[in-house]
Amino acid sequence: MVVNNTNASLVESENSHEMGIYPKRGIALVRGSGSHVWDADGKEYIDFTSGIGIAILGHAHPKLAQAITHQANTLLTCNESFANNERARLEERLVGLWHSATGTNGRVFLCNSGTEAIEAAIKLARAKTGRKGLVAAMNAFHGRTVGSLSLTFKPKYRERFEPLLGPVARVRFNDIESLRTAVTSDTAAVFLEVIQGEGGIRPAMAEYLQAAREICTAAGALLIIDGIQTDTGRTGKFFAFEHFQIKPDAVTLAKGLGGGVPIGALIAQESACAFKPLEHGSTFGGNPFACAVSNATLDVLEQENILENVRANGEWLMDKLRELAARHSCISEVRGRGLMIGIELKVESKATLQAAQAKGLLVLASGETVIRLLPPLNTPRADFEKALAILDEVLPA
Ligand SMILES: Cc1ncc(COP(=O)(O)O)c(C=O)c1O
Repeated sequence: MVVNNTNASLVESENSHEMGIYPKRGIALVRGSGSHVWDADGKEYIDFTSGIGIAILGHAHPKLAQAITHQANTLLTCNESFANNERARLEERLVGLWHSATGTNGRVFLCNSGTEAIEAAIKLARAKTGRKGLVAAMNAFHGRTVGSLSLTFKPKYRERFEPLLGPVARVRFNDIESLRTAVTSDTAAVFLEVIQGEGGIRPAMAEYLQAAREICTAAGALLIIDGIQTDTGRTGKFFAFEHFQIKPDAVTLAKGLGGGVPIGALIAQESACAFKPLEHGSTFGGNPFACAVSNATLDVLEQENILENVRANGEWLMDKLRELAARHSCISEVRGRGLMIGIELKVESKATLQAAQAKGLLVLASGETVIRLLPPLNTPRADFEKALAILDEVLPA
């Protein structure tokens, strides 16, 4: 029973009621504003996790709060057999963004999470090509439901649930020859992240992505970019693949798309859209509530020059982190793009994460040795400066 709303009692309560799948970090977050959050004992933190890259406009953004209240007072739900103003607007602008990025006509399927967008993409690829084979990279993360889990790399996430979907060919990331060998006349799709997020913030090389496009085209397979962690502005472009002048057949979105509210999307070239009526669907997908909040998120992205900010602050932060690396020999590399940054340590990152938290900075891990920074995209420079000072203090020499 929750006896009082303290960190200790809330953590204990969740630990005693949940299934034990989420190791807790010892605090309960109960309030947020911009790039800051407060725990149940009243301590303030700079939040460079943004809910694993979700709250791209920070917490309690007034325009999102307004959209949420307005839509709650207007229409929360309306299944896809009926059209809706917010859904129609969101779909039109996503297809518009896709067109600006690829020069091709697109179509969109709306769902509620990243893994659902991947599931939809797997089915679309099979429907379009009539083939079964899937190709994914080592260290990739695409989700945890049975289809997407089949593409996710980490054996410890997968092994107890096998047999999963197959056949899945596993290629070395950034290795063109490995991809060329794996893609065959039975390949329905190749799934790639532009920066592997859970896999240690590992960026794909431009030549690799361009070769992936050529290899897929030659084999008649779809190239599907998983933009769930990298997209909706995190790297300084709306779609991260835009940095590389490639035209994928489809992209998956989720995380930042709703500014904190659950929503996912699969956008695909019109020519790849092979679903027949009712072959796919989702009860909650495209609900007016999530669509309205997503529209408000995209409005703010446009109106407040967020992408420019990401590019400027991202470069500045990367330079500062490299200066930090010069002072701390425990840092082996700083990498990433925009505001998706990994600091690779020569030691496990756990102790540094805990020490940063104690000093008022929340950051994420990616694997055992990488500190992952996913701050809100509108984080002010002053918060970056404070965060850098904390990292300087807590990083081992
Ligand atoms: C690249 C990528 N794909 C898919 C997913 C799965 O998204 P969700 O947790 O919303 O199902 C994630 C989540 O971290 C991700 O980073």
